[in-house]
Amino acid sequence: MERIVFLGPPGSGKGTQAELFSKRENFIHLSTGDLLRSEIEGKTGFGRIIKDYIGKGLLVPDEKITDYIKNYIEKNDLYKKKVIFDGFPRRVFQADALINVMKEKSSSIDCAIFISLDDETVIERLSNRLVCGECKKVYPGTYEDEYCSICHKKLIRRTDDDADVIKKRLDVYKAETKDLIGYFEQKAMLRRIDGIGTTEKVFEKIKKVLNEDV
Ligand code: AP5
Repeated sequence: MERIVFLGPPGSGKGTQAELFSKRENFIHLSTGDLLRSEIEGKTGFGRIIKDYIGKGLLVPDEKITDYIKNYIEKNDLYKKKVIFDGFPRRVFQADALINVMKEKSSSIDCAIFISLDDETVIERLSNRLVCGECKKVYPGTYEDEYCSICHKKLIRRTDDDADVIKKRLDVYKAETKDLIGYFEQKAMLRRIDGIGTTEKVFEKIKKVLNEDV
């Protein structure tokens, strides 16, 4: 299992788990959200185009995000590397494009891990999430310091973790991304993981599922 898609509602722990897999299992963590936010922070042309979508909790249009991720894959030659795709694809159009772009280079997407989480826990986690303004490390609301344990910069809230935008992101997930569960299931690529439990427990569950498939 080398190229894996992480699916799930906002706040289900996709980024947290992808980060652990990158540190412990040598996966490259391709976080679409982090890439897009760095385009916005850098005030690039693409950043200006996508800023409003992200601020409102809407998906960036398929063609734009798909071209961007395809270019990123090509530039970083990710076809044969161990990669976790966190946040891409989010719609069937994007999933078809990702699978095809891999096929063209005789590569593949090997499975999709769906991390499930109930709405109440999503809202609770996102309303309390903190991130480092510098290195972007993510912390749970229970973290007891105001500063990042790595770069010692102040922790901040993500602008799209505002209550109304969280609600919108959940609605968008249900209306637009949930279809991907059936899409990957039909291809026998879907593996389901319950996102409740400590980050260590969830990590172990995902690792077990991936090892069973080897
Ligand atoms: P993105 O940044 O990907 O946001 P998201 O999908 O809403 O997911 P999150 O990053 O909010 O949550 P997560 O599942 O990674 O949870 P995390 O690990 O942080 O995308 C942002 C925006 O970009 C989108 O809204 C859209 O506009 C745009 N976009 C991105 N991709 C796109 C695409 N493909 N197409 C179009 N537009 C796109 O965990 C959340 C919190 O819970 C943290 O505080 C964490 O510490 C805590 N936590 C994690 N695990 C646990 C646990 N097991 N127990 C307790 N707490 C936990």
